[in-house]
Amino acid sequence: MRYALISDIHANLPALEAVLADIDGRTDVAAVYHLGDLVGYAPWPDEVVAALRARAIPGVAGNYDSTVAADYEHCGCRYEDARQEELSHLSYEWTRAHVSAGTKRWLGGLPFRIDIRPLGGHTAGPRVILVHGNPVLNTVYWTEDRPDRFCLQMAGQLGAKAGDVVAFGHTHKPWHRAIEAIHFVNAGSVGRPKDGDWRAGYALVDVGGEDVGVEFVRVEYDIERAAAAIRESGLPDDFAQYLDTGGMPRAHATDAG
Ligand SMILES: [Fe+2]
Repeated sequence: MRYALISDIHANLPALEAVLADIDGRTDVAAVYHLGDLVGYAPWPDEVVAALRARAIPGVAGNYDSTVAADYEHCGCRYEDARQEELSHLSYEWTRAHVSAGTKRWLGGLPFRIDIRPLGGHTAGPRVILVHGNPVLNTVYWTEDRPDRFCLQMAGQLGAKAGDVVAFGHTHKPWHRAIEAIHFVNAGSVGRPKDGDWRAGYALVDVGGEDVGVEFVRVEYDIERAAAAIRESGLPDDFAQYLDTGGMPRAHATDAG
């Protein structure tokens, strides 16, 4: 079974549309799942949620989704200096002010975790386990430099075993590694990549056969449409520049998210 995993769309509708078109062009994708952080930083929170709902794409709650839904005091994003903190709050307040009540309710209903069994529930495995950031808290960043020990601890929290896939996002940087035959997959980010590549990113995961396969896909999208809409929306212009650089630091670029 081949699954497409789309994460951290962050209200970037042109990026989502390009990724969904790319997936539609493939004949071998059994299902699409999202890994959360549907809103924040770009001006299409309602439209992104509507697009996922229209296609009945299931997925988990990201920190941005649950904090917006719960009117929490902040989005649970990391920031490293005062400017980043300011930008983070501006994005959060803009998003809270612009999402519809229906979107908010729907975000609040997203599950924290989804388990998929490609061979069916009548066998013990393998499983694909989806969370947004980490099995305990969605605000913890599970970066590629985490030691094997950390990854196995997380697998233990989830009850993952050899042959299973644990998939997540949150850091906006794709990576894959297998430790003791458990596959850890960060699906990257559709709408706000941070690895220096501006193109929308998602992951294809093959499970249920001889071996687990993971492929990272990058898709060009209408970034000018996204940048122009950000500038017109009242969101900080920094977010348009951030998309353009793929999250690489430049003057005033923020790492929050
Ligand atoms: Fe995110």
